[in-house]
Amino acid sequence: MASHFFTCIAILFLLSINVESNEVSDLEPLQAAEKKTLMETGWWSNHSKKDADHCRWPGVRCDAVGSVTEIDLSGHGLNGSIPPQIGALSKLNYLNLSMNGLRGELPPSFRNLTQLLVLDISHNEIDSISLAIENMKNLVSLNLTRNLIADMPSAIGFLTNLTHLIMDSNPLLHGIPHQVWNLEKLMTLQLSHCLLSGPIPSNIAKLESLVTLDLSSNMLVGPLPSSVSNLTNLTVLNLQRNQLNGSIPKEIGRLTNLVTLDLSNNMLLGPIPSSLGRLIKLVSLNFRFNQINGFIPQEIGNMKNLSFLRLGSNKIQGPLPPSLGNLSNLKQLRLYRNQINGPIPSEITNLNNLVLLDLGVNNFSGQIPPFLGLLPSLTSLYLDSNLFEGFIPSDIGKLKNLTTLYLSNNKLTGPIPLSLCHLTNLITLSLSSNLLRGPIPLEIGILEGLIFLDLSQNGLSGPIPTQIGKCLNLLELNLANNHLSGRVPNFPFYLEKLNLSFNSLMGPIPSVLFHLPPESFTGNKDLCGAITGFPPCPSSSSPTVKGKRNSKVMHNLKIIIVVPTLFLVSTLALVMLAIFRHRAKSFKPDPSATKNGDIFSVWNYDGRIAYEDIIKSTEDFDIKYCIGTGGYGSVYKACLPSGRVVALKKLHRFEAEKPAFSKSFGNEVKLLTEIRHRNIVKLHGFCLHKQCMFLIYEYMERGSLFCVLSNDDEAVELDWIKRVNVIKCVAHALAYLHHDCSPPIVHRDISSNNVLLDSNLEAVVSDFGNARLLDPDSSNHSILAGTYGYIAPEFAYTIVVSEKCDVYSFGVLTLEILMGKHPGELLTSLSSASSQNMMLSDILDPRLSPPTNKRITLDIILASSLAFACLSLNPKSRPTMKIVSQEFLAHRRPLFSKPIREVSLSELLNCKMYMED
Ligand SMILES: *[C@@H]1O[C@H](CO)[C@@H](O)[C@H](O)[C@H]1NC(C)=O
Ligand SMILES: *[C@@H]1O[C@H](CO)[C@@H](O)[C@H](O)[C@H]1NC(C)=O
Ligand SMILES: *[C@@H]1O[C@H](CO)[C@@H](O)[C@H](O)[C@H]1NC(C)=O
Ligand SMILES: *[C@@H]1O[C@H](CO)[C@@H](O)[C@H](O)[C@H]1NC(C)=O
Ligand SMILES: *[C@@H]1O[C@H](CO)[C@@H](O)[C@H](O)[C@H]1NC(C)=O
Ligand SMILES: *[C@@H]1O[C@H](CO)[C@@H](O)[C@H](O)[C@H]1NC(C)=O
Ligand SMILES: *[C@@H]1O[C@H](CO)[C@@H](O)[C@H](O)[C@H]1NC(C)=O
Repeated sequence: MASHFFTCIAILFLLSINVESNEVSDLEPLQAAEKKTLMETGWWSNHSKKDADHCRWPGVRCDAVGSVTEIDLSGHGLNGSIPPQIGALSKLNYLNLSMNGLRGELPPSFRNLTQLLVLDISHNEIDSISLAIENMKNLVSLNLTRNLIADMPSAIGFLTNLTHLIMDSNPLLHGIPHQVWNLEKLMTLQLSHCLLSGPIPSNIAKLESLVTLDLSSNMLVGPLPSSVSNLTNLTVLNLQRNQLNGSIPKEIGRLTNLVTLDLSNNMLLGPIPSSLGRLIKLVSLNFRFNQINGFIPQEIGNMKNLSFLRLGSNKIQGPLPPSLGNLSNLKQLRLYRNQINGPIPSEITNLNNLVLLDLGVNNFSGQIPPFLGLLPSLTSLYLDSNLFEGFIPSDIGKLKNLTTLYLSNNKLTGPIPLSLCHLTNLITLSLSSNLLRGPIPLEIGILEGLIFLDLSQNGLSGPIPTQIGKCLNLLELNLANNHLSGRVPNFPFYLEKLNLSFNSLMGPIPSVLFHLPPESFTGNKDLCGAITGFPPCPSSSSPTVKGKRNSKVMHNLKIIIVVPTLFLVSTLALVMLAIFRHRAKSFKPDPSATKNGDIFSVWNYDGRIAYEDIIKSTEDFDIKYCIGTGGYGSVYKACLPSGRVVALKKLHRFEAEKPAFSKSFGNEVKLLTEIRHRNIVKLHGFCLHKQCMFLIYEYMERGSLFCVLSNDDEAVELDWIKRVNVIKCVAHALAYLHHDCSPPIVHRDISSNNVLLDSNLEAVVSDFGNARLLDPDSSNHSILAGTYGYIAPEFAYTIVVSEKCDVYSFGVLTLEILMGKHPGELLTSLSSASSQNMMLSDILDPRLSPPTNKRITLDIILASSLAFACLSLNPKSRPTMKIVSQEFLAHRRPLFSKPIREVSLSELLNCKMYMED
């Protein structure tokens, strides 16, 4: 009781002092000036009235005498320029403005911040620091990640106390000033994704305190200087994704503190130096995608801590050293696509923690050793495209956690062992292109999780077991080029790809497979059914009475639907053709008419749109028909006398007088009259008259993607299948514009506002007001165009238009569709470690329940990893839309065969799947 009492008194006492000081405002002159400074920034306008003590405002800290020493407004939604007043806070030693939308330069007044120790303005849009930093002599940590700084100022050389210099993802076009090499205390130097070119300067060896060196994802050339080996305190050396050549210096063995060594995706030659064996602290070694040759040195077995060994896509030869068996911590051994030969050494059974073993596309020979069944943790086993022979050992069936098994393209003989059907976690099984004989085991139906099953190009015989119909997740089934006989079983689910060609199958093709192309069935003995090239089945050959009745009803229905539609379509087509010919004569846009600004033209429609109808049906563009207002003009819905509905985009009179607006209208007409794609909005006509400018489009019932995503009910209706479909539609439309149009067309304003949805939630790309033809003979210079939040970062330093700016916007849009909102914050935090630790499932739109269907899951993983590739800061490392569109059409090895909740953003960011293993 007593102690409570005193506490209360003490608090009252403190309060009263406070109240007093508020009233009297007896701050020291310096503190009063600082408070005024803070108020002038406008950043605390909400608090300055409520709380008189500026030291208690959010993100502000003061020292004992009341001077401001710390400001932390990370992620506070600040934008605009940084107020120069901050420079007057002379006692400031910590300033964190990261993760905001701050723009422009770091104010020159910052030169007064001589006490500053930590400056973090990462993840903003700052474009210059040159005039601000030269006096920050005490600065220890400078984090400028993800800004738009093109010029790394030489004044950085004055910051002699600097230990952390982090500038990832800035377009450092002028390179690294030599003064940086004098920063002797530097422990962290991170300059990934900075467009750096030229060789790695050997001066780097002067930074002897370095612990982390990351120059990855640049355009660095030349050899890795051997002097790097003087940096003996290094724990992380990341030089991946450059164009380094020459061999790996043997002195690298001096870097005995290394934990992570990544030289992947370069053009390194020569052998792996045996001195590598001295790196006994190494956990992750990645040399993949180089031209490394020679043997894997025996000494590799000394790296007892190694968990990840990636040497794929090189030219490594010789047998595997038995010493590999010493790496008992190894989780992943990836040796894909080399020229390694000999048998798999038995020592590999010591790798108790091995989760992934990829020996695919090498020259391994001998039998697949039964002892592989002793690797208890294995989930993925790739032995495809080698010279393995003999039987598939039944011990493989002991690998209970296996999800992926590739044994294709070897010389394996004998039957498919029954034990494989015990691998109930299998998602992908490929045994194709071997010499396997005998039947497909009936037990295959146990593998309910299978998505990809490929047994093609073998000598398998007997019937296709009907039990295969139990593999409900199957997406692709390939049994081509075997000796399978009997009937085609019924598949009670939708198969996306099926290949049964070149077998001895007979009887009717089940109607559930009629969506497949004829090639799926060619080269069989006696198949029949309603597929081009096959005879219709005699009515007695239907498999069951029930099936017969069903298929007959279906057939009748189809006839009823198909006949009138065909009739209608052909009549319409004739009418349209006639009208089009007629209109082409009388209404074709005619350059002389354009001069007077007086064209009304309608085509590509039923020909019944008349100017008067439009004016009448919108009561001369009455506001009540307005369904939206865009960057220029408004959009109206017009219900024509014929009952057809169209959308009209109209420039208002005062806008029509601005040349820029009428120009983008003309631009849109010009482009849209020339292109046709099912995922690009259809223009039916236009009126270009100085009194009344409007465009006539097909009407999209559900409006913009942005609106659908903003409405909780509609967003839920746009489920995962439909969202993936929208992403694919936009990808195909952009691939068409970039690669099938000549000259290519760059849209320049891809955003969720410009993607429209019809009543089935199918998507089209609209709004071509900013679009440009890419003229191969001109420089394609331009002013900035597009929607803030979707514009590619290179526009900060270049005015050259390329299709890669659409690719970037597509990346933003894809994440927006998956997340249900613009990925603003995620974009700015992508290169930070914290966001890389996030899981894909954390960012998916929480309004939808997580995807459970495996096919959709794979599509979401594919879409998000493509999106991240499209968001690459370096336009050259973004994939083309053609590649993106093809990735959606192709079905490759699944990227990850694990549940979606276990997929992290860093895995997606780092998988370069479109040119991947
Ligand atoms: C100030 O308050 C308004 C309204 O409560 C809020 O929208 C705004 O974000 C606040 N600004 C800051 C800087 O906290
Ligand atoms: C910076 O310091 C100098 C000298 O102390 C002073 O004259 C100048 O006004 C200061 N600038 C700002 C923006 O506070
Ligand atoms: C740098 O750091 C040292 C030791 O922490 C300190 O004594 C010195 O004042 C700092 N500033 C400069 C400009 O060297
Ligand atoms: C910037 O780098 C520093 C290391 O000096 C780190 O502590 C900080 O978290 C980084 N900021 C962000 C936003 O990642
Ligand atoms: C390397 O690290 C050790 C241990 O942390 C330290 O004592 C030494 O000073 C560092 N070397 C350099 C050159 O910074
Ligand atoms: C590397 O270190 C050695 C001795 O430790 C020294 O002689 C040599 O000059 C250093 N090389 C560079 C490029 O700093
Ligand atoms: C197999 O997978 C399960 C579930 O992921 C896991 O708990 C178990 O530890 C794994 N078994 C081995 C031997 O790794």
